[in-house]
Amino acid sequence: MKKILLTGALGQIGSELTMKLREVYGTDNVIATDIRESDSEVVKGGPFEILDVTDAQKMHDLTKKHDADTIIHLAALLSATAEKKPLLAWNINMGGLVNALETARELGCQFFTPSSIGAFGPSTPKDATPQDTIQRPTTMYGVNKVSGELLSDYYYSRFGVDTRGLRFPGLISYVTQPGGGTTDYAVEIYYEAVKKAAYTSYIGEGTYMDMMYMPDALNAVIDLMEADPAKLKHRNSFNVTAMSIAPETITEEIRKHIPEFELSYDVDPVRQGIAESWPNAIDASAASEEWGFKAEYDLAKMTKDMLDKVK
Ligand code: SER
Repeated sequence: MKKILLTGALGQIGSELTMKLREVYGTDNVIATDIRESDSEVVKGGPFEILDVTDAQKMHDLTKKHDADTIIHLAALLSATAEKKPLLAWNINMGGLVNALETARELGCQFFTPSSIGAFGPSTPKDATPQDTIQRPTTMYGVNKVSGELLSDYYYSRFGVDTRGLRFPGLISYVTQPGGGTTDYAVEIYYEAVKKAAYTSYIGEGTYMDMMYMPDALNAVIDLMEADPAKLKHRNSFNVTAMSIAPETITEEIRKHIPEFELSYDVDPVRQGIAESWPNAIDASAASEEWGFKAEYDLAKMTKDMLDKVK
């Protein structure tokens, strides 16, 4: 990775990954793009271009103009939004991905796009979910993610594009809030804990999902992209996770800092249904073995940092 173009750079991952990549590779070597502008550092602090990922020609032209050798394609609708607007999700998530892969093929770029725990479904083993297992998701987001994994592998085997990906769990961060995801509660809970010492969860008690703190996610992207290709048996995509948690386990941890914090439930059937179709806890050993993945933040360390930063 020497010169990197990101799509969806103002999203939850992009807003932090752009800044981290600028630190590591130099500001001028990281071109942020998004469908909209903002006043943020991502836009003001380095190269930035407006890009709608469904515009294949513009994606090609911008990648060429900036002489990028790496594409990090992040622009996508998350699971709950995709369930509300399935056709739009297909068009943006798959249309954007095909355009990004085609650009990578035409211009010889290395390529990264995130998959998700959403690429699993109800028939997937729920605990210690293996790297290679049944993937029959029942959401449009999941259909997009599995298709994306397959398509990325296809571009590698058929055209030799150096595609790599991670199956991210819910990502927890304090810079940009996620929107329209099923795991968003695990971010909201910290903001509400600081603001009101109370949170009403739309995900029910005892619903376990994998999560990871954003600094670990950013390092994982860079480590995978820099990994020796000879060591990669898998490419799209690697299971990665740092913890498996439910609303009440986060609550217990928050109470160590805010003892009066109260959790109540008002379960949203749509997002609860999505959560129940996903694993409880995935196995990230292939990522550890093939390129040394290791998360630094567990629930306790993440909670302390989140509460400090959100305050
Ligand atoms: N965080 C995502 C979502 O909830 C999962 O990849 O949609």
